[in-house]
Amino acid sequence: MMAQQTLFSRVIGTGSYLPPDRVTNQALAERLAANGIETSDEWIFARTGIRARHFAAPDVATSDLAKIAADRAIEAAGIDPQSIDLIIVATSTPDYVFPSTACLLQNKLGIRNGGAAFDVQAVCSGFAYALATADNFIRSGAHRTALVIGAETFSRILDFNDRTTCVLFGDGAGAVLLQASDEPGVLATALHADGSHAHILCVPGNVSGGAIAGNTFLHMDGPAVFKLAVNVLEKVAIEALDKAGLSAEQVDWLIPHQANIRIMQSTCRKLHLPQERMVVTVDEHGNTSAASIPLALDVAVRDGRIQRGQHVLIEGVGGGFTWGAAVFKF
Ligand code: ACO
Repeated sequence: MMAQQTLFSRVIGTGSYLPPDRVTNQALAERLAANGIETSDEWIFARTGIRARHFAAPDVATSDLAKIAADRAIEAAGIDPQSIDLIIVATSTPDYVFPSTACLLQNKLGIRNGGAAFDVQAVCSGFAYALATADNFIRSGAHRTALVIGAETFSRILDFNDRTTCVLFGDGAGAVLLQASDEPGVLATALHADGSHAHILCVPGNVSGGAIAGNTFLHMDGPAVFKLAVNVLEKVAIEALDKAGLSAEQVDWLIPHQANIRIMQSTCRKLHLPQERMVVTVDEHGNTSAASIPLALDVAVRDGRIQRGQHVLIEGVGGGFTWGAAVFKF
């Protein structure tokens, strides 16, 4: 009997998109001042590392951002979009209650091959969840070419009367194309959740009887999220590295979820990685939730930092509470 060859999923292209409206801390502070809310560039930068974020225009939906990021990944990979037989969109700000943003995106991309398309909801850990899902689908042999997207219009769920949250988030999309390959590939993934912390980061509303029930603005207990985040991120990063059989020093690039520079630096320090090996976009993007990791990945691929054959570690934490990590050879 012939030995079965191991099947991997491999990154064959990346893409990203930020809507053009770049809002600096100063511009946001002026906008909030009009509502009688006080904040400053100094406070925001010192506590978060954020200088600016991008906001989508009112008529632009999450699937529109995802479409441009996807087009760029498809172009980078040089593949026929009709070969994409799986689309997974990680988002907490979908276009509609249903259908999924992934189905809307499939249509916008003109893909008519009957492939699978669905959304994954794990808030800021969404991309780690989506990547792990696509990797498992590909390694099982069920699908061959997956478009994995993180896309968000978080500006829609921000309460611009709440300075503790509205200064932190932005809009954008990142895309990764994964394809079945004999060569590695995604080496390991690790996902976790603890629903008992649901209340510290949530949008506690829904649609009921034709109206909005509850509150559809983002609510966050920042200090509680901070404490939980630094605790679980190091553990899940080490778990993924152990599964991959790699030590932290073999990591060429750390791409953390871009929530807050202080959380990111803490994980980097705990892994004993030099800060130069961490990709940082939080300064220019803010926290784009599920989009932040694929956005940062695409930035570092396109500026030439991430090279073929290098090891990349991604890790993220978000509402749920959820957290996850993945290691792949680019
Ligand atoms: N401008 C000016 N002052 C502010 C602002 C603001 N935008 N927001 C809060 N303050 C004030 C507070 O009112 C408080 O004032 P007080 O001392 O007079 O009461 C003071 O600043 C300190 O507030 P804290 O909440 O204690 O500030 P902290 O140092 O914890 O920073 C922050 C807040 C940035 C939210 C931090 O807790 C954090 O980063 N938490 C992690 C949350 C996060 O990153 N969430 C993203 C989503 S989940 C994820 O992606 C991991």
